[in-house]
Amino acid sequence: MPLLKVDSVTAGYGDTEILRGVSMVVQPREVVSIIGPNGAGKSTLMKTIFGLLHARQGSVTFDEHDITRLAPYRVVRLGMCYVPQVANVFTSLTVEENLEMGAFPAGKADQTESKERVYAMFPKLRQRRRQLAGKMSGGERQMVAMGSALMLNPKLLLLDEPTAALSPKLVDEIFERIARISETGVAVLMVEQNARQSLSMADRGYVLANGENRHEGTGRDLLNDPNVGRLYLGG
Ligand SMILES: Nc1ncnc2c1ncn2[C@@H]1O[C@H](COP(=O)(O)OP(=O)(O)OP(=O)(O)O)[C@@H](O)[C@H]1O
Ligand SMILES: [Mg+2]
Repeated sequence: MPLLKVDSVTAGYGDTEILRGVSMVVQPREVVSIIGPNGAGKSTLMKTIFGLLHARQGSVTFDEHDITRLAPYRVVRLGMCYVPQVANVFTSLTVEENLEMGAFPAGKADQTESKERVYAMFPKLRQRRRQLAGKMSGGERQMVAMGSALMLNPKLLLLDEPTAALSPKLVDEIFERIARISETGVAVLMVEQNARQSLSMADRGYVLANGENRHEGTGRDLLNDPNVGRLYLGG
């Protein structure tokens, strides 16, 4: 059984249909990258998986549970965490308070162990733990957002454009963190504009265009596919 199975999902906003019969799977411990043009429906797909938006047709199964109609707080309890593309930290809270908010859905009083696990992964956050998240750089904020999501020790982490608007050096650093997170056994499904770099580190990838599946394969296969290269990787 895959950890996540998206089966022929149709979803959208109001009268507008955005996703049309999208299917994909994530196996346990896998890193999977979704690429595609702006407006393809990548963020919409992430929201539909997490339960912020519900599929009109098709189904979403996570860890053998049908989550198609579940609210996000229940999806989180099953072991899936989501870092949205924008507004992914509480800017008026400190780093440590952000981590505590990440653990909130579990309702556990003692978060020492989870914080230690996250600080071990992101040593910079330990140094900055009393700083307001709103006063951090883009890359640091992204680490706060990822750290908060990891507080619940999820089986699957959804990342929507974790490297957006970062300098090349920080992009490398974020990808390196994602690789380390994956080594701890967490499966990762990410949407990425840095398509080449994300496919190089991903086990598998999907190309989404115009709300539909276009290509899928191992990261390497997609990187070497001339059609994918020409249309989606800038030649
Ligand atoms: N809340 C919303 N209400 C109505 N339409 C929306 C909403 N959010 C997104 N859309 C529309 O859905 C389509 C897909 O948007 P989505 O954000 O999923 O694309 P994306 O692939 O993530 O793009 P990007 O690469 O720019 O992040 C777009 O046409 C967008 O205008
Ligand atoms: Mg998006």
